[in-house]
Amino acid sequence: MFMEDIIEHKRDGLALTEEEIHFFIQNYVNNKIPDYQASALLMAIYLKGMTSYETAILTKEMRDSGEVWDLSDIPGLKVDKHSTGGVGDKVSLVLGPMVASCGAKLAKMSGRGLGHTGGTLDKLESIPCFDIYETYEEFKEQVKNVGMAIIGQDENLDPADKKIYALRDVTATVSSIPLIASSIMSKKLASGSDCILLDVKYGSGAFMKTKEDAKKLGDLMEQIGEHLNKDVRYEITSMEEPLGYAVGNNLEIKEVIETLNNRGPKDLTLLCLNSGAIMLEQAKIFDNYQDGYNALLKNLENGKAFDKFVEFVKAQKGDISYIYDPSKFKVSKYLIPIFAAKNGIIKKIDALTIGKASMHLGGGRMVLTDTIDMSAGIVLNKKVGDSVKNNELLCTLHTDKDDVKEVIEEVKEAFIY
Ligand code: URA
Repeated sequence: MFMEDIIEHKRDGLALTEEEIHFFIQNYVNNKIPDYQASALLMAIYLKGMTSYETAILTKEMRDSGEVWDLSDIPGLKVDKHSTGGVGDKVSLVLGPMVASCGAKLAKMSGRGLGHTGGTLDKLESIPCFDIYETYEEFKEQVKNVGMAIIGQDENLDPADKKIYALRDVTATVSSIPLIASSIMSKKLASGSDCILLDVKYGSGAFMKTKEDAKKLGDLMEQIGEHLNKDVRYEITSMEEPLGYAVGNNLEIKEVIETLNNRGPKDLTLLCLNSGAIMLEQAKIFDNYQDGYNALLKNLENGKAFDKFVEFVKAQKGDISYIYDPSKFKVSKYLIPIFAAKNGIIKKIDALTIGKASMHLGGGRMVLTDTIDMSAGIVLNKKVGDSVKNNELLCTLHTDKDDVKEVIEEVKEAFIY
């Protein structure tokens, strides 16, 4: 088999065979196919697309390019969730304890934030001493005993995605739906859960800008699950405005604590209740959505979800005194209020602009090697639909930086009212 024939087939719009996809992944990961041929194939896939079956085979081959975790010795169905990324998206940290408090086992591998989107690992590391580098054995023990564990990406999982993603980044092929679907799903499948819930975001702060594209991506990932015998479900949610009020690492952890005490923002709480009810059904803990929803709500009200979060943080060596007393978290040197310049109704709070502004305040990274200021970010005082009066507080910027005049202007423009 020759790589140039595979490129030609895709260039001419044919569906690749299982053997061709296997040949490409195996030889590319083993450095036997040069980047220029892999780039040509990626561009052909970008332009001609892939069937759901082809995408499922690509996903399977990527999954099998490295280690595949086996969680089968943990009793019960293991659940995982993935969000395609957004601004203020702290869902995993609320949802995890909620579903674990109802008996689900959440085994989650998470990533770091880059650009305008935050990462679950960074948020967790804003809790002093929190350890995201557990071993695989420790991770499994924790899922078994506590019901949830979240760890960093394992370098040995899915090496094909690492190589292909890096190449997509420099060949203008990132935004191909089959390539996004196989990239997300191969990592999720390699980390061994039985059921996966995907939160596919659309809007200004998301990868998919429109609801239609989010649906295409969700459908394709669900079909990959069908081809590969995994229970994969998805929901589509808006990322037109940030989720909740807090954007930035320890600011979001404080909001997680509030939400687990049933005092959280409505949008975040409802999203977690909805996602959790689907996950509990997937894990076969309840046989219908409504019973799961009611159980989750009860555990928010009676403190069991909060207690599970404390147990999880403690198991990963985090200092739980911060969870009981969030006023201990570091506060930025400057708290800069942004006031409304007129009366009105908030029509839009542009998530992309807020995400970028938070990064510029020190709360995110432009490149993976940047260090993060855990207390930096933005706390909104208004959400879309709220009314606002002239001179009323729109949001507060948190930063240690001395000169953020440009960020202040950026944030003012994010609010349309
Ligand atoms: N997230 C991923 O893991 N891969 C993509 O291609 C896009 C988003």
